[in-house]
Amino acid sequence: MKKIGIVFGMENTFPGALVERINQMQAPGIAAEFVHIGGIKMAEPSGYRVIIDRISHDIPFYRAFLKNAVLGGTIVINNPFWWGADDKFFNYALASKLGVAVPRTVVLPHKKHPPDTTERSMRNLMYPLNWDEVFAYIGFPAFLKPFSGGGWKHVYKVDSPEELFRAYDQTGDLCMTLQSAVEFKEYFRCYVVGQEKVHIMHYDPKAPHHERYVKNPPATDARLLQRVNDDARTLCRALGYDLNTVEFAVQDGIPYAIDFLNPAPDADYYSVGPANFEWIVNAVAELAVQKALSEEQPTREYRWSEFLNASTPAPAATRSPGRRAAAKRTGG
Ligand SMILES: Nc1ncnc2c1ncn2[C@@H]1O[C@H](COP(=O)(O)OP(=O)(O)OP(=O)(O)O)[C@@H](O)[C@H]1O
Ligand SMILES: [Mg+2]
Repeated sequence: MKKIGIVFGMENTFPGALVERINQMQAPGIAAEFVHIGGIKMAEPSGYRVIIDRISHDIPFYRAFLKNAVLGGTIVINNPFWWGADDKFFNYALASKLGVAVPRTVVLPHKKHPPDTTERSMRNLMYPLNWDEVFAYIGFPAFLKPFSGGGWKHVYKVDSPEELFRAYDQTGDLCMTLQSAVEFKEYFRCYVVGQEKVHIMHYDPKAPHHERYVKNPPATDARLLQRVNDDARTLCRALGYDLNTVEFAVQDGIPYAIDFLNPAPDADYYSVGPANFEWIVNAVAELAVQKALSEEQPTREYRWSEFLNASTPAPAATRSPGRRAAAKRTGG
């Protein structure tokens, strides 16, 4: 018997539906369940062929368990080694090398010294920063947001240097990025499963939480949807994520990728709605079964040095939506 397990946190609808769907598929020799674990011995096989991880970003104990499980031959969705190493600034940089449009982005030093560090730990740092150069590159409006994290925590829209400094003052020891704002009307959130299947959802980030997944979306240009589909897949393949959401904000017909580090994406029935829920439960169930039946050896597959060799078809950084604004406001 090959077991498929799921590790999850507070969510209530997706894990149960996934287990039920996999078991309904009645694939020979496959059974799904909630993972049940206690004290984990080093190098001990987990007993699972596949584990779907929904929560280890919040619970280091689970991350440790999952990395140990990989050693014993468990395929983990998503790769816990890469997930732990990844950050949004690297993602934007990689996207720009891959020719996927992303807004211009810089990474900023922590506003406050991280715990147990002092001025003396920061002697490599240029001080003060050349803010004029940063503003000329990014322009206003801009978004100040963490290089890692989610749930709109510490995401600030700023319209001027003064607003930026006020927001930056509130970010403590977080590592922040500053990014050109995309002035969008259309916004898409896309599930990407198995680095292959893409499900594009019209999303309205400005609506109240329960109305964000647009129920009756307007007709959309087929070429735009095709580009969104292709770019979402390109990003997930480069990053090696088997389950992710990629978010695009569209300005002047160009879909800018603005958030694609979501390896445990929202999949709650009450949030995404019945049709999207049905899609994601099916797609992940099929992927998990396919992986459980495959010959894949995770200790061989989980390498990420190849990400750093991304080919460079287009200098996407020149596509920043903030460019014109920057030139205007800085006189450049
Ligand atoms: N460059 C940008 N241009 C326009 N809007 C942006 C930009 N960056 C972020 N936003 C807005 O802020 C929201 C949150 O940003 P982002 O998705 O990067 O953060 P998050 O914390 O990962 O949020 P979530 O968990 O909802 O995905 C986006 O949905 C979008 O509305
Ligand atoms: Mg987001």
